[in-house]
Amino acid sequence: MQRLFFALWPDDGVRARIETATAGLAVRQGRRVPSENLHITLVFMGSVDASARIYAEAVADDLRAVSAELRLDQLGYWPGPRVLWLGASTVPPELRRLQILLQQGIARAGMELDDRPFKPHMTLMRKVSPAPRLPTLEPIDWPIEQFALVESVTRSAGAVYRVLRLWELGG
Ligand code: 2AM
Repeated sequence: MQRLFFALWPDDGVRARIETATAGLAVRQGRRVPSENLHITLVFMGSVDASARIYAEAVADDLRAVSAELRLDQLGYWPGPRVLWLGASTVPPELRRLQILLQQGIARAGMELDDRPFKPHMTLMRKVSPAPRLPTLEPIDWPIEQFALVESVTRSAGAVYRVLRLWELGG
C-alpha cells in the first residue's frame, strides 16, 4: 500500500518566491512546513494498493486539461486543523476543471474521496495557535504547466513527499 495524492508541485523558482514572500510570517506557536514539501493537493487518495495506483495513473494519462495561471494572493488560518495556508482568491476555470476531471475519474474506481468543494491551498505552517494576525501578501504568479502524483511517507521527523510522476498540461 502507498499513501498517494495528486498535487500541484512548485518548481524551484516558485518555491523560492513563496519562501521569500512568507519569510516574515510570525506566529506565537507553530511548525513551518519545510520548503521542499510545499504543494497544493488536487485529490487525496490516502492508502491505496498497486491496482488502484495503476488505475489512478490511467485516469491522469487519459485526461485532457490545459495549463493555467494561478495567483497566490491570500493567507488564511483554519482554527480546526490549526493550519496557516497560502491560497488564491480566484481559482482559474482551467484548474477547477483539472481537479474535477481527476476527482471524477478517481471516484469511478470506488475510492473514498473528500467531497468538500475544492479550496486550493498550500499549508505553510501546522499546529499554529493562537489565530495569527495575517499580513497582506505580495501576490505570487504561478504558471501551472503540470501536475504530479505524489507519495507521502511518514518518518519520525515528519512527512517526506516523493514525486512519482509528472503530467504536462496542454497549452
Ligand atoms: P493539508 O495540507 O490541508 O493537511 C498530504 O498529506 C497532502 O494531502 C496535504 O496537502 C494534505 O492537506 C492533504 N490531505 C491529507 N489528508 C487529507 C484528506 N483526508 N482529505 C483531503 N486532503 C488531505
